[in-house]
Amino acid sequence: MPRPMASEEPFAHLEVGPGRSPVDLWCEDAVAGLPRRLGPGSVDVVVTSPPYNRRIRYGAYADNRPRDDYLGWMRQVGAAVARVLSARGSFFLNVGGAPSDPWLPYDAAREVGRPFVLQNVIHWVKSIAIDRAAAGRAAALDRDLAVGHYQPLGSDRYVHGALEYVFHFTPHGDVPLDRLAIGVPYQDPSNVARWAGARGGLRCRGNTWFLPYPTIRIARRDRPHPASFPPELPEWCLRLHGVGRIRRAADPFVGIGSSAIAAARLGVPFVGFDVDPEYLRLAVDRLSEAGGGRRPGASEPAPPARRPPTAPRRRGAAAPRGRTARSTTGSASD
Ligand SMILES: C[S@@+](CC[C@H](N)C(=O)[O-])C[C@H]1O[C@@H](n2cnc3c(N)ncnc32)[C@H](O)[C@@H]1O
Repeated sequence: MPRPMASEEPFAHLEVGPGRSPVDLWCEDAVAGLPRRLGPGSVDVVVTSPPYNRRIRYGAYADNRPRDDYLGWMRQVGAAVARVLSARGSFFLNVGGAPSDPWLPYDAAREVGRPFVLQNVIHWVKSIAIDRAAAGRAAALDRDLAVGHYQPLGSDRYVHGALEYVFHFTPHGDVPLDRLAIGVPYQDPSNVARWAGARGGLRCRGNTWFLPYPTIRIARRDRPHPASFPPELPEWCLRLHGVGRIRRAADPFVGIGSSAIAAARLGVPFVGFDVDPEYLRLAVDRLSEAGGGRRPGASEPAPPARRPPTAPRRRGAAAPRGRTARSTTGSASD
């Protein structure tokens, strides 16, 4: 597949929300672009979802490499991220599998994660069934509950896939996390007094995150990318790392900009890469339009992050092609 030529200007430079949070989007191969555009140790959080090699029909990328090629590429992605991630940084890698290929996410994570320590494994649950009896009386369910979306699977061998993984890598396995930034309220208030860490009546959410996709009505309009994640997924990753400790976040496979939207909501400077200009155009549209109100269930805006002191900011960076460079629509989250 032909790679886009390296350019000295980003595909788009936006300043989003009241904090004018800078977002740079590069139409560039991630492995080449990360070290070219970002200084060593200059990124505090990388949150990304690479292609899974599952024959997804992307616009500009053929998602059907021989397995060994794909895994070799994943190793290069890990090495490129390791060059730009700070010593106390977090690298959140979202990978899903196919029911018929359950090793895929583990194989990919093993290769990407070679330069890192695997600090946490989070299960992103997209759909779940909860039996009324198991939920207990406090839940006050009047029937069994099934929530979220999954791809129905016609198989007598495999159960359908209702989760993906978020592998949390760090350079040394010792990065402190702001667990209560995405905490959940204690069900039993007596536990608040019992546990010293129960700040504000919250406990750690744990390693299962239930985040359904929003219901879609028109696929081309509401889900214009075949494998995007909801912005809440990267938002929770950024919050878990600790927004106040993020000088800059990056996504090497930014697609239609879900992680950029998450960063903008939190006031975190952001750099993203994708080889597909059409997806980047959509990312610019979404960032520009994202000021129109917080989705139900989205979290409260966090305090703005610190600006990167040493970040190589581009001067006079290009406006997104065909669009204004500055979003005037307010915060992406409210
Ligand atoms: C799983 S999708 C990411 C979707 C994104 N998380 C979102 O929510 O929109 C993977 C993306 O990687 C892009 N891609 C494929 N090869 C690439 C490369 N060498 N460098 C950068 N991006 C690439 C594809 O165009 C695709 O948009």
